[in-house]
Amino acid sequence: TPSLSLSLSLSLSLSLSLSLSLRYVQSLMEILEFLDRRPEDQKVLQDFVETLVTIRNRHNDVVPTMAQGVIEYKEMFGHDPVTSQNIQYFLDRFYMSRISIRMLINQHTLIFDPASQPVPSTIGCIDPNCRVTEVIQDAYECARMLCEQYYLCSPELELKELNESEPIHISYVPSHLYHVLFELFKNAMRATIESHESSSTLPPIGVMVALGGEDLSIKMSDRGGGVPARKIEQLFSYMYSTAPRPEITTNRRTPLAGFGYGLPLSRLYVRYFQGDLQLYPLEGFGTDAVIHLKALSTDSVEKLPVFNQTALRHYTSSHEADDWCAPRKEPLDLARDRVAK
Ligand SMILES: Nc1ncnc2c1ncn2[C@@H]1O[C@H](COP(=O)(O)OP(=O)(O)OP(=O)(O)O)[C@@H](O)[C@H]1O
Ligand SMILES: [Mg+2]
Repeated sequence: TPSLSLSLSLSLSLSLSLSLSLRYVQSLMEILEFLDRRPEDQKVLQDFVETLVTIRNRHNDVVPTMAQGVIEYKEMFGHDPVTSQNIQYFLDRFYMSRISIRMLINQHTLIFDPASQPVPSTIGCIDPNCRVTEVIQDAYECARMLCEQYYLCSPELELKELNESEPIHISYVPSHLYHVLFELFKNAMRATIESHESSSTLPPIGVMVALGGEDLSIKMSDRGGGVPARKIEQLFSYMYSTAPRPEITTNRRTPLAGFGYGLPLSRLYVRYFQGDLQLYPLEGFGTDAVIHLKALSTDSVEKLPVFNQTALRHYTSSHEADDWCAPRKEPLDLARDRVAK
């Protein structure tokens, strides 16, 4: 029976990855057809917009499909550090390309599709005056609604804008910022509620926004008990989550919650425009999540993976022994228990 279920899972993963690759080939062929067509022709432009919309929809469920593949891989082969590192490296670059392609498609369709309803103050999906606190409020409200559905309660928001007399704004893609904040709020809310199960009140989630000459920084602080510092990098792994695993269903609408993609994907979204996302947990108390964005639009240039020999070496290089004497990675629970007694 184990070998039967193994081969069944293998064939499921293989058919998933095959159908994913075929979809990418199909999209590429559809784009290539426009190489010989005249861009001045209105009909060609209209066809191009329609093709882009079809392509965007075709690849909507790439993230849950890949997540499902990673889960199946983990179940079959366990946690081999070299492979995990390679998967992390591959997925970071794969998803970064995806963010960029979808940003371009959205930009083109928003500007050229007559059916799209443009917002006058924006240029496609870019808002030259993106009011950061408004995006924070929106993301909080949405995460709060989700949180209420699961836990029937939610922590309050304490929002502070530092060093500005007028609302802080930057040139940014609001949907990217919203996505990142929504993920961080969900994590902060879950940690806060699960660490205060026995208490009648919930500590609020604090958010501070500061604008300097180079950076726009957003700090989200929760009092959800934090995590050990040793685990910080692990939290950004596509293979790590402490949430109950979502059901793998045969229909393709797999829910994303609990796949452990919130943090790694959010970090990619901010890195895409040269920003960064860092977590500073204080175990036993809470976590500060800090987003750094470039304050100047001239600094917010696209960051894309390059496919060259260096990239290839990442997969082929042998991993040598550590050159520092390090204690064992996992704490000795037994020894700790004994000390506690
Ligand atoms: N603010 C936080 N406080 C405590 N633990 C956190 C916090 N943020 C994240 N974590 C831990 O990091 C893990 C990974 O977070 P991540 O957002 O990447 O995935 P997830 O929340 O498990 O699932 P998903 O976001 O994909 O629905 C979480 O499962 C949780 O254990
Ligand atoms: Mg999350």
